Amino acid sequence: MVPEPGCGTPLGARPEPPLIQGGMGVGVSGWRLARAVSLAGGLGVVSGVGLDTLVARRLQLGDEGGRLREALGAFPFPEVADRVLRRYYRSGGIGERTAFAPVPLPVLAPRRPSVELTVVANFAEVHLAKRGHARPVGVNYMEKLQMSTLASVYGAMLAGVDYVLMGAGIPTGIPALLDTLAEGGRGELPIEVDGDGERAFTASIDPLRRAHALRPGPLRLRRPRFLAVVSSHLLAAYLARDARSRPDGFVIEGPVAGGHNAPPRGKLELSPTGEPVYGPRDAVDLAKVAELGLPYWLAGGYASPEALAGALRAGASGAQVGSAFALSEESGLGTELKRALAERAATGTLRVRTDPRASPTGFPLKVAELPDTAAEASVRNGRRRVCDVGYLRMPFRSAAGGIDYRCPAEPVDAYTRKGGRAEDTAGRICLCNGLISAVGLGQRRRRGTEPAVVTFGGDPSFLAPLVEAVGPVPYRAADVVRYLLGGSAGEP
Ligand SMILES: Cc1cc2nc3c(=O)[nH]c(=O)nc-3n(C[C@H](O)[C@H](O)[C@H](O)COP(=O)(O)O)c2cc1C
Repeated sequence: MVPEPGCGTPLGARPEPPLIQGGMGVGVSGWRLARAVSLAGGLGVVSGVGLDTLVARRLQLGDEGGRLREALGAFPFPEVADRVLRRYYRSGGIGERTAFAPVPLPVLAPRRPSVELTVVANFAEVHLAKRGHARPVGVNYMEKLQMSTLASVYGAMLAGVDYVLMGAGIPTGIPALLDTLAEGGRGELPIEVDGDGERAFTASIDPLRRAHALRPGPLRLRRPRFLAVVSSHLLAAYLARDARSRPDGFVIEGPVAGGHNAPPRGKLELSPTGEPVYGPRDAVDLAKVAELGLPYWLAGGYASPEALAGALRAGASGAQVGSAFALSEESGLGTELKRALAERAATGTLRVRTDPRASPTGFPLKVAELPDTAAEASVRNGRRRVCDVGYLRMPFRSAAGGIDYRCPAEPVDAYTRKGGRAEDTAGRICLCNGLISAVGLGQRRRRGTEPAVVTFGGDPSFLAPLVEAVGPVPYRAADVVRYLLGGSAGEP
């Protein structure tokens, strides 16, 4: 029998972390949150999504407190870190209305400045989360953001990341990539190009050639464990069937989880409010997951000691929790947004919509209906469409035979000129700009700062008992860990 929190093996002494703090992008799970959670006895996870832009913008704001420059100082190849600093760091910070300098948009074969910024940014974030302690730290990526994955994973591994988690897609190539990079080999990842059939382009990064030229002896990297975030036992079984795609475990995410959700199985049915309807076919058969012989964690609505105990009873190693940590002091979400979410949750007026159209990825997205954010049609429609961050652009084979990139949230005429269908652009939100804005780093434009987009879990009922136990929002992340793990949190 699996012991419950507070009895049997103390949760803090288990080989697997009983609590994973979800990697929340863009910038909600930064190093401060991951570090606080790991120190308190959970697995802190940094979101690796968009770190090149976040780090470049923080450097332009003057890097108050100097943490980023400290992390860059620890980067193993100083001339690379220096180039990034020279390009983006502005002592004292740029003016309040000055636009942030652009960073290169992701492409199939990125050039050196882009690769270097991504590697350094991922290194810095993980380095800061791990600084001064020996507890494990993870990093979370989205499979859909394939063009940034190689450089991102390599940067996180240079900082000694312990876990890589990846959702929003089918991450078949990651286990082999981690093996290769750990051995100092040339990392490769097949990337899907629209119109070229499945996985036509193989991206590569040969990171250690430079390292070997500059440093004597091999630079070995620790191979992190890989957890695939999935929403079905079928996908779990598919990934586990082959040694090359077999992860070290799964996070099984249900449809109330914040962020992106898997679409319901079968034909998409919408409720009267236009939200996807999930049914019995979407329930995950945990017995089938258990048969795969790999540890798994449950996610989506597990932010209470009772729910966590239930996950353990069901055979899981624990739970992954996101929304509860998004409201903590250490999360990157803007203070006003945290307050707005908490106030509405407390009065039962928080509405979180599962929007099947908002995300350019095509996955349903949980969108918190907060005033003055892109959840409001007037704000969304009042925004001039622009695509200048580009994480969600898909590479495609153009009519002329070359490679081009498009995103259904970009300006409609540009999208249709590139062969995209106008109807695919309807209702899309520019998540790149919107999510970055939600963590206070939105691009400044002539018409004002980019409107924020806020994603949050669909069941805010966790908040009242949590606040009762740990105090008002924004509470400390360590207190959330203690609340969820009971007396078993902390150093084993
Ligand atoms: C603000 C926010 C952003 C998120 N971003 C991501 C993400 O970038 N990648 C990911 O795998 N999951 C993401 N998630 C999902 C969480 O990692 C976690 O699985 C989920 O929040 C668990 O459900 P809960 O919110 O009910 O605790 C996000 C969740 C939130 C609330």
